[in-house]
Amino acid sequence: MGTTKDSGLAAPSWDFVGHYVGRPSVAPDWGVLGQYEVIAEALLSIGRTVVDTAQIKEGESVLDVGTRSGDWALLAAEAGGRVTGIDFSPRLLALAQSKFEERYPEAQFELADVAKMPFADDSFDVVIDVVALMFGDDQKAAVAEMARVLKPGGRIVWTGWCGGDAIAEVAKIQMETTAEVLGYKAFPYSYWGVEDDMRELFGAAGFDIKMEKHPMVNEAPSARALLEGVDQVHPISRGCSMAMEKAGILDETMTKMVDVLENRNENPDAFKASRHYAVGVATRKPS
Ligand SMILES: C[S@@+](CC[C@H](N)C(=O)[O-])C[C@H]1O[C@@H](n2cnc3c(N)ncnc32)[C@H](O)[C@@H]1O
Repeated sequence: MGTTKDSGLAAPSWDFVGHYVGRPSVAPDWGVLGQYEVIAEALLSIGRTVVDTAQIKEGESVLDVGTRSGDWALLAAEAGGRVTGIDFSPRLLALAQSKFEERYPEAQFELADVAKMPFADDSFDVVIDVVALMFGDDQKAAVAEMARVLKPGGRIVWTGWCGGDAIAEVAKIQMETTAEVLGYKAFPYSYWGVEDDMRELFGAAGFDIKMEKHPMVNEAPSARALLEGVDQVHPISRGCSMAMEKAGILDETMTKMVDVLENRNENPDAFKASRHYAVGVATRKPS
């Protein structure tokens, strides 16, 4: 596994995390703020759905892009896949590797950008992306690279949010306010869950797609408790809060975000927000 220093990765323009660790010239490292590995519990149903949808067969080679702490790569290995994971974060990759050491020592984890991967053409039967690429700067480059490393009959299985829900609304407020405070251009967050956009993106790279929508629920004792809980562990939320705190607008932005959630709360005794994610499968168009 390489190190961030020698990886040649470049930070995208919105790199709030790098900004706050004083390393704006390196790739956004989701391992240096918050505790991103803890998110696995909240995203478990999504990781399972993606791996189930991929229908991995014994011995197939599987690449997990944006693998974080390797939790879905582990599900892929348990399904019979020979697994490789890439991520921007050395700390998260080390965590991922430690989960595989005993049971799957042949699994590989690499510090790499999905838009520039250190793998030969036609290397993998399956590429999976669980809510990772939606944070990237260049969607076309990501799809082109996944297409390059995919074997001719292979499949890309990805997931993204469908948007339009209360959580999407507060994420937009949080990230747009932070970009403004830092004088950065708008965060390029895209959902990868909107079918027309995905058909265009993958279609241009020679793929047919099929997408399915799945429900998910976020619950907490209150709207504020949900936001504060996420803020303790999520690196992007941490970076945003630190920027807003420094600018003296954290409390007012949090209150605005709480109001948005409360207005759309589905449980009067606590807090509940429903949202949807989409899982897509891309396969090459017949030539
Ligand atoms: C929202 S997280 C998703 C992680 C994991 N797949 C999951 O479901 O929890 C995004 C992850 O992708 C990584 N990541 C983001 N952009 C990336 C890129 N261009 N290349 C490689 N990894 C990337 C981040 O470091 C982070 O661990």
